[in-house]
Amino acid sequence: MRAKEITITTRSPEKTRELGEAIGASLGPGAAIALIGDLGAGKTHLVQGLAKGLSVPDEYYITSPSYTLINEYPGRQTLFHVDLYRLERGADLEEIGLLEILYGDGVTAIEWADRLEEPLPPGHVTLYMAAMPEETLRRIRMVGVDAAGIEWLKRLEKELKKN
Ligand SMILES: Nc1ncnc2c1ncn2[C@@H]1O[C@H](COP(=O)(O)OP(=O)(O)OP(=O)(O)O)[C@@H](O)[C@H]1O
Ligand SMILES: [Mg+2]
Repeated sequence: MRAKEITITTRSPEKTRELGEAIGASLGPGAAIALIGDLGAGKTHLVQGLAKGLSVPDEYYITSPSYTLINEYPGRQTLFHVDLYRLERGADLEEIGLLEILYGDGVTAIEWADRLEEPLPPGHVTLYMAAMPEETLRRIRMVGVDAAGIEWLKRLEKELKKN
């Protein structure tokens, strides 16, 4: 099966949030989104949009959960915001509670997902985010590798075309 990918360039932090919102609105239970990109690539801004798309109440302000590794927000689906920047090599994901979350019914968004040694659950989509020479441009490459991930990207593509 060939992977499917969609690349979008956003021109501002707000546009990255808007993309996140469209993605969030399209997510069902158990979805997993891996976010890969350097410091300041816009991963957290995208998750702020995801939260909006998942109807997480505005009173929750989403920041990188660097010290706790995992933050949880109520929404249409529960949103688990994971940041693995400070994950120790060989850390026990079971102990951290990450496996339960990844294979549970909520939506999981994982910053620095490339630090994970284990495979992500079926249907996951990976967002590669990169800064561009122009200061406020970010390139966001969304990749699905299995049937469910590809299917979901196709639906998202249709939604994005409507806007
Ligand atoms: N198009 C854009 N999309 C998102 N952020 C942008 C964009 N243009 C500029 N920025 C700026 O880049 C920074 C992105 O910060 P953000 O915390 O989302 O990055 P991050 O990838 O989560 O970083 P970290 O790895 O440190 O958690 C912010 O300062 C934001 O204002
Ligand atoms: Mg972040």
